[in-house]
Amino acid sequence: MTKKSVGILFDRVRWEEKELGRQLEHRGASYDMIDAKSQILPLDASRFSTLPERVLVRCVSFYRGLNVATVYEAHDIETVNSARVLDLCGNKLRTSQILSTHGVPTPKTVVAFSSESAMQAIETIGFPCVLKPIIGSWGRQVVPIRDKETAETIIEMREQQSDSMQTIFYVQEMIKRPPRDIRCVVVGDEVVACVYRYSSPDNWKTNIALGGHTEICKITRELEETVLKTVKIMGSGVLGIDLMEKSSSEFVVHEVNGTVEFKGAQMVSPHSIAGRISEYLVSVDRELGQRIKA
Ligand SMILES: Nc1ncnc2c1ncn2[C@@H]1O[C@H](COP(=O)(O)OP(=O)(O)O)[C@@H](O)[C@H]1O
Ligand SMILES: [Mg+2]
Repeated sequence: MTKKSVGILFDRVRWEEKELGRQLEHRGASYDMIDAKSQILPLDASRFSTLPERVLVRCVSFYRGLNVATVYEAHDIETVNSARVLDLCGNKLRTSQILSTHGVPTPKTVVAFSSESAMQAIETIGFPCVLKPIIGSWGRQVVPIRDKETAETIIEMREQQSDSMQTIFYVQEMIKRPPRDIRCVVVGDEVVACVYRYSSPDNWKTNIALGGHTEICKITRELEETVLKTVKIMGSGVLGIDLMEKSSSEFVVHEVNGTVEFKGAQMVSPHSIAGRISEYLVSVDRELGQRIKA
């Protein structure tokens, strides 16, 4: 079997993975689609000789992508994103902490680690606030909490569940934003797409998976500055940076996606996002690529 130059690690083939394949083909790049679910990886192998040297991690499952990336990296396979970046992005607590530490504007957040202390954390933030799982996507279990009664009910519901993650209470101020947020897709240090994501009429959340729609968003200087500062802190690669508007010139970063979905952004963007990602993957002059080849 001939070794391909690039790999796409997946656990579900969505529109994005197909489009990435098309764009790589269009550029004449040889690539492998690698099903993470079929990977059997002896940790003491000297190398995985049939695998490509650079792999784009596109797993829907955060844990699957992160753990495969960890093993690949130990065997000199460059992953995009790196395991460190995937870990920082996939865990909202870690994201919020690093953004806060480095002075990137982000919603005020308080964390508590038992149902006994959860109400105190919620009261520290005040109503209305937002409770989220620290690992999750597509808006699942992201709950707006507008009063004490709702807070008590949600805490009680979480208490009933055996999942230890349910005892981690990540509480955030509710940003008074328009019915939209902003997604910036960044490849390396270039913003390749920037869109508003509008929530559907019957939903407060702006996730496209929940029926939201996109419109093009002009990148202002303030917006670009915040986005690029975020990239510098999180580590570059292929990132989806999500921001909310506190005012017309004030943005807070609430999430950084390490395996970004970009179908919604592509619908209104003039340039091919998958095309830019493909170019990034096949370029050989990147610092990390050179280090691995050396
Ligand atoms: N602090 C907040 N204030 C206002 N809206 C929020 C806040 N946090 C999340 N949302 C809304 O909920 C959506 C989902 O939250 P998010 O943190 O992005 O979780 P997920 O990883 O599930 O997408 C966001 O896209 C936004 O529309
Ligand atoms: Mg989100």
